[in-house]
Amino acid sequence: PANNRVFSGIQPSGDLHLGNYLGAIRRFVPLQDSHECLYCVVDMHAITVWQDPDELRRATREVAAAFIAAGIDPKAHIVFNQSQVVQHAELAWVFNCVARIGWMNRMTQFKDKAGKNSENVSLGLLAYPSLMAADILLYKAGSVPVGDDQKQHLELTRDIAQKFNNDYAASIAANGFDPEFFPITEPLIAGPATRIMSLRDGTKKMSKSDPSDASRISLLDDADKISKKIKKATTDPEPLPSDVEGLKGRAEADNLVGIYAALTDASKQDVLNQFAGAGWGTFKPALADLAVEVLAPIADEMRRLIDDPQTIDAVLRDGAERASILAEKTMLEVRDIVGF
Ligand code: ADP
Ligand code: NA
Repeated sequence: PANNRVFSGIQPSGDLHLGNYLGAIRRFVPLQDSHECLYCVVDMHAITVWQDPDELRRATREVAAAFIAAGIDPKAHIVFNQSQVVQHAELAWVFNCVARIGWMNRMTQFKDKAGKNSENVSLGLLAYPSLMAADILLYKAGSVPVGDDQKQHLELTRDIAQKFNNDYAASIAANGFDPEFFPITEPLIAGPATRIMSLRDGTKKMSKSDPSDASRISLLDDADKISKKIKKATTDPEPLPSDVEGLKGRAEADNLVGIYAALTDASKQDVLNQFAGAGWGTFKPALADLAVEVLAPIADEMRRLIDDPQTIDAVLRDGAERASILAEKTMLEVRDIVGF
């Protein structure tokens, strides 16, 4: 059955951006008060698409630094990278044999990433959601805070848990385990920033892989760059509406108001109460100042940590040791259930 654990992961596959921060990392922080949290740098997910090894090591430390700089306490909770806890790969293999190829083929992220070239992408890219299910279920985590783009993958995690529990029901019972051996995990997808859009195109999500640097705010951008990108963001000519209804059909306006709301832990309506009737010439500088105020201290702390790789590596090693103990406990049970 589900426990009080939270699991979430971020890929070290490029520069972290405001979408990763508002949709995920910022939301990880308050969960520490009420849950046992595992926050993971998912390097095995990253290599589903080719990564330069030195760049992978750099990006792994950058994500760990972002976790800590944003306020995650690696002593009270667990911060680690996936490849260092081998049970993730072991359970993913079992899940590859539980999940159906048809389930994987239906994933919109796979279709987007593979494009027309689906015969010539890695097998890992197709199986990605199976590894993600292993990440979560290895710790029998009850809740997973993620952005909206991960919703379909989390539904697959639930399907895999359910099918494993069914396929192995007799063996689970014979071994004396609860019939709901793997929990049916709850996605935590809420708030004004579940899907931050590109600053240049309100129909595309802000992403590490967008070729336009102006489309995203990177967590390590300096104040000047952040201000310039926000001031140049695409918008319509209308002033800000007085209620959220008035944001319908205005993707770019909705996105900027959502970013402001998330940065202040307010609702979009709260923001509109403050800025109703204002033009972009007023709102964008206010948003830029706010973004700099929130992000600059995080970026400073990230840079300090990145300059001290030994400390980050020690945090990741310690996290992996503690995660391994929890992971091995589950795998001892899984091996008995499967018949290994
Ligand atoms: P990316 O999509 O940038 O490669 P990941 O796949 O590593 O990032 O996702 C890390 C976390 O960041 C996930 O919880 C994901 O849902 C969230 N996330 C990514 N992009 C956005 C976005 N544009 N808006 C909100 N959350 C996002
Ligand atoms: Na993603």
